[in-house]
Amino acid sequence: LANGHKAGKTRNILEKMDESDKNTVIFYGSQTGTAEDYAARLAKEGSSRFGLKTMTADLEDYDYENLDTFPADKIAFFVLATYGEGEPTDNAVDFYEFIRAEDTTFSNGGGIDEKALENLNFVAFGLGNNTYEHYNSMVRRVNEALLKLGATRIGQPGEGDDGAGTMEEDFLAWKEPMWTQLSEKMGLEEREAVYEPIFAITEKPEMKADADEVYLGEPNKNHLEGKQKGPFNSHNPYIAPIVESREVFTVRDRNCLHMEIDVQGSNLTYETGDHIAVWPTNAGREVDRFVNILGLADKRHTVISVKGLDPTARVPFPTPTTFDAAIRYHMEICGPVSRQFIASLAPFAPNDTAKAEMTRLGNDKDYFSEKVSQQYLNIAQVLEKVDAQSKWTNVPFSIMIEEIKKIQPRYYSISSSSLVQKNQISITAVVETIRVPGADHIVKGVTTNYLLALKQKQHGDEHPDPHGLTYAITGPRNKYNGFHVPVHVRHSNFKLPSDPSKPIIMVGPGSGVAPFRGFVQERAAQAKAGQQVGQTILFYGCRRSTEDYLYKDEWESMKRDLGESFVLITAFSRDSSKKVYVQQRLEENGELVNKLLQEQKANFYVCGDAANMAREVNTKLAKIISEQRGISVEKGEDIVKAMRSSNQYQEDVWS
Ligand code: 2AM
Repeated sequence: LANGHKAGKTRNILEKMDESDKNTVIFYGSQTGTAEDYAARLAKEGSSRFGLKTMTADLEDYDYENLDTFPADKIAFFVLATYGEGEPTDNAVDFYEFIRAEDTTFSNGGGIDEKALENLNFVAFGLGNNTYEHYNSMVRRVNEALLKLGATRIGQPGEGDDGAGTMEEDFLAWKEPMWTQLSEKMGLEEREAVYEPIFAITEKPEMKADADEVYLGEPNKNHLEGKQKGPFNSHNPYIAPIVESREVFTVRDRNCLHMEIDVQGSNLTYETGDHIAVWPTNAGREVDRFVNILGLADKRHTVISVKGLDPTARVPFPTPTTFDAAIRYHMEICGPVSRQFIASLAPFAPNDTAKAEMTRLGNDKDYFSEKVSQQYLNIAQVLEKVDAQSKWTNVPFSIMIEEIKKIQPRYYSISSSSLVQKNQISITAVVETIRVPGADHIVKGVTTNYLLALKQKQHGDEHPDPHGLTYAITGPRNKYNGFHVPVHVRHSNFKLPSDPSKPIIMVGPGSGVAPFRGFVQERAAQAKAGQQVGQTILFYGCRRSTEDYLYKDEWESMKRDLGESFVLITAFSRDSSKKVYVQQRLEENGELVNKLLQEQKANFYVCGDAANMAREVNTKLAKIISEQRGISVEKGEDIVKAMRSSNQYQEDVWS
């Protein structure tokens, strides 16, 4: 029953579709919930516009061997995110391996040669990021594999690009011709779309919000009953004590947090270079904004139960709960808003003027971009902007549950070594605050500000958002005393060489230095224990040596253990009138870098910003190699590529 599989549930998709009278399944491979969200939108649109009987399906909940019995009058969609370095998302790994294997055999014994999937009609959309090398490789490869197996694709495989920030528009542009081709092929008639709720929300005035069986942020039954039970994973966080929290910047206007999370007794294990997932809570101010504009303020603590009106609809949070708790702990109310969402809310606007404005925002791409996307408005801010005087009480709560993504854990590169502190995980996180040019509001990162608030509370500091924090998990019920944060661990391939005598070169400006603190900590401990440790070279960059220089004192103490083998090379971008970045330092040390890579097969690591820094480092390294070895730049690039495939060059990057 790993991965949240429920006992007694069928893993046979055709059985499931028959049982629930469906003719269309939208499979999703999702890591952060976006692909799942798009799948749900396609399901809704297919049913409301074309009368398809749709369901969404998590790829890890079903078997694939019987896809060869998928009949020609049914349709399968694949909405697939590409993750990291061209990898499938965690929930799609098994499917990906199965469908691409040369010797894959289906339930009737057929494989590639027999064109086992010749009855299967499919539609494919991918979510990717062009700042990564293997752009949308998941959807491309699955598409290729399905065609090889004889399946018929309807429409073009769609590709959304998060790197260019055009995911939503790519999706909207892709789906119209796809629907046209799909309706021609399947003989469907488009009809006037009418909103049909997916969830029934029942208010339970007879129940008290603090009753034992009411969920107030607890992610599942064990947590509700105050028993923490593992395994802890992406379905079940561990509510971990925060044993230390401190500020590591020395400037007032920017914050970077260092936190120590205690995982002793949880059975959570990590290895140096892994990621820790933090499950956030929305800021009180945003929860208030949301309940106020929807006219829910008076009944925010009313107990509700939520049920799917269709047997395949999954309620994305446990109930009974309250409006407040569902919004605060489970709905990504501060996330970006889609044009389609705004259009779907237009019929529920409080008056004709508001309705007209919502319709315009929904239809006019440029207008929407200017008024909503570029301002980073969240959904409640959009409604306020359109009409703050009225309460939007006509909006069914179901549509909010359907359209707003469920809140996702955020991943941070662990900044400690598992050799040094096996049961205590360090986090290093820069608190995100974006000042939007020309707008009168600032946008605050949900999770880093939640962590900041926890730190301020722990230290009794004044909190800038005093009503921002009321944590059911750590608060009113007092099940877990002290300061806690829900977490789990995700394993990564970003790893030190198994032989410590191998040299390493690390490039990590800003909070990209996080995993390298762990790396250096580990090598310092190995050196102290008498092991032979190879050259350990860290390129680190920040704005000023006096403001945001992370772990300045620690590097010095680690140097005492590592001696001459540890070299820290800094680039302070704003200490002089000319910008200095890590790439420049890399070039200045080109001879040493090349020598270590070529002669001692040193590992090369990059962590931090994917969009610019990581790319530029890659380019710079190719240039260094070409100059040092007297070969062409193209050859230098090929060598870097080969280093990537052999894992000599490893990245842990984000955008
Ligand atoms: P800047 O903000 O002064 O431009 C951590 O954020 C450090 O990375 C800062 O010193 C920042 O400099 C620098 N930085 C910004 N863009 C970069 C890039 N493209 N490559 C390398 N470093 C960069």
